[in-house]
Amino acid sequence: MKNICLHSDIKVPEINSYRLPSHVGIIMDGNGRWAKNKGFIRTEGHKAGEGVLIDFIAGAIELGIKAISFYAFSTENWSRPKTEVNFLMRFSRKIIHQRRDILNSWGVKIVWSGRKQKLWKSVYNEIQEAMEMTKNNQTILVNFCINYGGQLEIVDAVNNLINNGKKTITVKDISKNLYNPQIRPVDLIIRTSGEKRFSNFLLWDSAYAEFDYINKLWPDCTRQDLFSSIVSYSQRSRRFGREK
Ligand code: FPP
Repeated sequence: MKNICLHSDIKVPEINSYRLPSHVGIIMDGNGRWAKNKGFIRTEGHKAGEGVLIDFIAGAIELGIKAISFYAFSTENWSRPKTEVNFLMRFSRKIIHQRRDILNSWGVKIVWSGRKQKLWKSVYNEIQEAMEMTKNNQTILVNFCINYGGQLEIVDAVNNLINNGKKTITVKDISKNLYNPQIRPVDLIIRTSGEKRFSNFLLWDSAYAEFDYINKLWPDCTRQDLFSSIVSYSQRSRRFGREK
C-alpha cells in the first residue's frame, strides 16, 4: 500500500470558493486496460488504482471541495468473472480497513451509497465501522459507491415512498429518499480513460452536472489531473436551463 501524504509537491491552484464544485463524482476507469498494457492480470490495475483514489481525496481536501463520490463497484459489475468480483469485494473491505485511520486524521467523513442486498456482509460491516468512526468529521465527505446503480437508487427511493403510503411523488420526494440525501447535487462528473459515458452513475443527482473526461487510465492519474479538471470547471458558465 502506497503511503500518500495530505500535501504533495504539486502546486494547488487558487480558486475562489464560490467557483468550486460542491460535489464531484469520479468514475475511475481504465484499471483493467492499464494492467493489460503492462502484461499484468486485471486485478493489478485495481491495486495500482487504489493509491490514486487516496491521492484524489487529498487533492480534493487541498482544494477545499466539500464532497466527492467514487464509483468503486456498480450493480452491473457482478457480471464480471467471479475471481475479479471476489477480488474487488475483498479489496474494498481491506482498503476501507487500512485507510480509515489516515482518512479520519484528515477529517474525512466516510459515507456509502449502494444496495445492501447482494453486497458481502463483511464489506457492509467494514463500511459501517468506518462510517461510525468518521461520522463527526467535517473537512470533506467521501462517498464510496459500492454495489451502486443510479437507476436502482431511484427505484429504491420510489419504493420507499410507496411503502410509506405516498400516492403522488414529487422531485423533492425522490431527492429526499436517495441513499445519501444530505449530499448536495453533483456539480461535476469526471471520468478517466477517455471514455465519455455516465454508466449509471449518480443519475438523479447529476441532472445538471458538468462533465469532464481525462484521457488517461485511472492508475496513471494524480491529483494534478483533478486540479486541472477543477480549474477548467471553475471557468465554465453554468445555466441550469436559463438563458445566456
Ligand atoms: C474500473 O476499471 C475500476 C473499478 C471497477 C474498480 C475500482 C476500484 C478501486 C480502485 C478500489 C476501490 C476501493 C474502495 C475503498 C472502495 P475497469 O476494471 O473497468 O477498467 P477497464 O475499463 O480498463 O477494464
